[in-house]
Amino acid sequence: MKRNFKNKVVVVTGGASGIGLATARRFAEAGARCVLLDMDEQNLALREKEFWAAGHEVLTAVCDVTRQSDCEAAVKSVIRQTGGIDVLFNNAGITQRSRFADTRVDVFRRVMEVNFFGALYCTKAAIDSIIDRRGMIIVNESIAGVAPLVGRTGYSASKHALHGLFASLRAEVSHLGVQVMIVCPGFIRTNLQDRALGADGRVTDRPQSFVGRQHTPQSAAEAIFQGACRKKPLLVLTFMGKLGYWVSRLAPGFYERQMIRQFADELH
Ligand code: NAI
Repeated sequence: MKRNFKNKVVVVTGGASGIGLATARRFAEAGARCVLLDMDEQNLALREKEFWAAGHEVLTAVCDVTRQSDCEAAVKSVIRQTGGIDVLFNNAGITQRSRFADTRVDVFRRVMEVNFFGALYCTKAAIDSIIDRRGMIIVNESIAGVAPLVGRTGYSASKHALHGLFASLRAEVSHLGVQVMIVCPGFIRTNLQDRALGADGRVTDRPQSFVGRQHTPQSAAEAIFQGACRKKPLLVLTFMGKLGYWVSRLAPGFYERQMIRQFADELH
């Protein structure tokens, strides 16, 4: 049976921009009561106005997912105001673009704190409520969570860590009626790449390579929404994403050579 999200409480981290925002809009169009969590206070206030103007109920909370106390306070407040959480979309994330040998260790730590620990803190805070509601956890991973990606060792490590956490968590909660859907998007046109950290921890101006065309956040959101309705365990998005996913599984050596060729320019 398909899931129906009418009147369900859907919490989206990193909900003020890109894939998170577009996905929240899609759930809101289906009648969900969305909660946007983000550290970007200005953008969040703007989004809140837009949701209400479009006739969608929304709650927002400023939350830096690297702070466990922020995550706990936000989740507690959502549960108090709405009664419980049906869907948690762990989406907030940052990326990095730099050679491993040049990259400071604190860059790896920062990427890990946002991408991995952010999702961990929010899920820990919300898990009891999600179990009570027989709800769903969605996690925005990447092809870099299941395959190597040159020039992004920190990003790829954080996404592999997410994969291990959420694939294992699924095994603990599926018998309780909770679904875990892992999403691996291909290239989506958002602010992510413009804010990528470089070797010294500042936003980098190194050029970015793309494979295939970049898709819109709206198309990613539609696929995520449909995947959630169908309770998919794994959702790989875009043609190039699917190709990368399967080639990396079936012919890892070939995948690695092609991937290095596509991204080699970034490393010079
Ligand atoms: P985006 O930069 O447009 O949105 C990310 C949002 O996360 C922003 O609103 C930002 O303020 C928020 N955020 C960042 N750090 C935060 C923190 N510490 N606490 C709370 N919020 C924080 O980027 P996009 O592309 O929408 O990224 C969303 C997710 O999608 C990320 O996890 C990213 O790794 C993943 N993804 C994106 C792809 C792409 O091509 N755009 C491809 C594969 C995965």
